Amino acid sequence: MDSADFQQKFWLARDNFLEAIEECKQNNHNFFEFAQPLKEIHVKQCKLISARENLLNYLPKNAVVAEVGTQTGYFARMIIDVTQPVTLHTIDINWSIFEKEKFLQEMESGVIQIHEGDSVERLSQFPDGHFDWIYIDADHSYNGVSRDIQCAYQKLKSNGIIVFNDYTSWSPLEAYPYGVSRAVNEFCLTQGWEFIFLALSPNGYHDVAIKKMGVETLDAQVTVDIDQVSTQIEANLVQLQYDKAKLAYKANEMQQQIKVLQLEYQQIDAELKRSQLQVQQLQAELVTKTVIKEDI
Ligand SMILES: C[S@@+](CC[C@H](N)C(=O)[O-])C[C@H]1O[C@@H](n2cnc3c(N)ncnc32)[C@H](O)[C@@H]1O
Repeated sequence: MDSADFQQKFWLARDNFLEAIEECKQNNHNFFEFAQPLKEIHVKQCKLISARENLLNYLPKNAVVAEVGTQTGYFARMIIDVTQPVTLHTIDINWSIFEKEKFLQEMESGVIQIHEGDSVERLSQFPDGHFDWIYIDADHSYNGVSRDIQCAYQKLKSNGIIVFNDYTSWSPLEAYPYGVSRAVNEFCLTQGWEFIFLALSPNGYHDVAIKKMGVETLDAQVTVDIDQVSTQIEANLVQLQYDKAKLAYKANEMQQQIKVLQLEYQQIDAELKRSQLQVQQLQAELVTKTVIKEDI
């Protein structure tokens, strides 16, 4: 296929894709995994790193580590070489393409431990507070990542770190939605965790490392929240006072109108009574004239 053929094929596929997305929207199907935005407090301490391989220089050395999703073992090899863990527990549901020959020494010494099966099933078997840090890179759907986080954070030591690969809502090379950013942001927002490292990937498959916020950070957040709430309350108060003044002015205007109407009513009523009196007089006159006429 030459370049022109490829471009034609690509644009046709894109048109079909956009058409499908439009149908999806019209039928209210959730296709994209939109992530909630974080607050400043969640990224204030975050350090930007050029690549995930360099991130390893900042993570605890001689630690107890888990890699959830190992595949060939490419990153497991790097974890061992750079951070020299006491133990690296590798978990994967499928070990068919694992490059075992690259880990013979670590398998013999017990530095690497291989666990076959579903990530949550296998992680749950460890005691709580066991790991210094956990690398999550298995099922990238929102549900998959959410269940991995829920299990992983209980298995961490109190100051433990969780690192996520592919922190994105869209995989450009697979043209497929990922739920990693949605699940990670939701966890940070609801559980008070913060970003400490963001390691870039040129194609958007960034890594992010998170840890539980310290008490000082949480206190600072509470102060910010209180400030925001009091500013909002003050703004509401000003609006209410303005509305109250407007209503008082209107009420005053209406009272004036009522007075004018009451006056008009009294005048009309007096006129009506005068007219009724005239009618009665005329009727009496008519009766008298009729009697006189009959007498004549
Ligand atoms: C992207 S690969 C991991 C790559 C590896 N971390 C690296 O960077 O070299 C994802 C792996 O997760 C595994 N996986 C997917 N869902 C899983 C699950 N529910 N439990 C365990 N492993 C899973 C897949 O078999 C696959 O090998």
